[in-house]
Amino acid sequence: MRFTLVTTNKSKIEEFIDIFKQYNLKYRIELLKTKEIQSTDLKEIAKESVIYAYNILREPVMVEDAGLFIRSLKGFPGPYSSYVYSTVGVIGILRLMSDVTDRSAVFQSVIAFYSPYTGIKLFSGEVNGIISYEPKGLGGFGFDPIFIPEEGDGRTFAEMEIHEKNKISHRGRAAMKFIEWVTSLKSPLPYVSME
Ligand code: IMP
Repeated sequence: MRFTLVTTNKSKIEEFIDIFKQYNLKYRIELLKTKEIQSTDLKEIAKESVIYAYNILREPVMVEDAGLFIRSLKGFPGPYSSYVYSTVGVIGILRLMSDVTDRSAVFQSVIAFYSPYTGIKLFSGEVNGIISYEPKGLGGFGFDPIFIPEEGDGRTFAEMEIHEKNKISHRGRAAMKFIEWVTSLKSPLPYVSME
């Protein structure tokens, strides 16, 4: 079963490598920036992105789109997480929430896979947690230093090892659904290369 994981995010790559290594999956990684449409729906963004990647690479492709949805901010930054992270960052989010007592939030992930043989397949995962009052930890990426998962022991994602984060994270959960599906496919997915 061969496919190509398409992303430019090095931290996501490390997380996927850690998850995939236990399942003997045949894949390669392509550092390609896909086009992300403006939408409030992660699924729509992931779908457009996987088709964009397929049209360039012409082989079975997989992309992932994720976002942090904070309840007291009515789901912000959600699908705008990347832009918000690169502009105001974690400190900006903490400032926005300085007087907020409801710190609940959810990370969501959508994996989109496309091959002409399967069509588009979507796999989602999420993890509930709270936004901390200050950043903690040096690991991970993005909003990891301020996200404390509900199922953890009070540490932020940035204070965890990759495999610990993967066990409970939005991405880890979406990836497990994807793995279950891709390893159950009967016939191998041939690469369709552009001559
Ligand atoms: P992307 O559009 O899927 O690349 O993700 C949007 C943004 O959400 C990223 O730039 C990060 O700031 C944030 N994000 C997504 N997943 C995670 C995660 O697992 N930890 C921390 N931040 C994340």
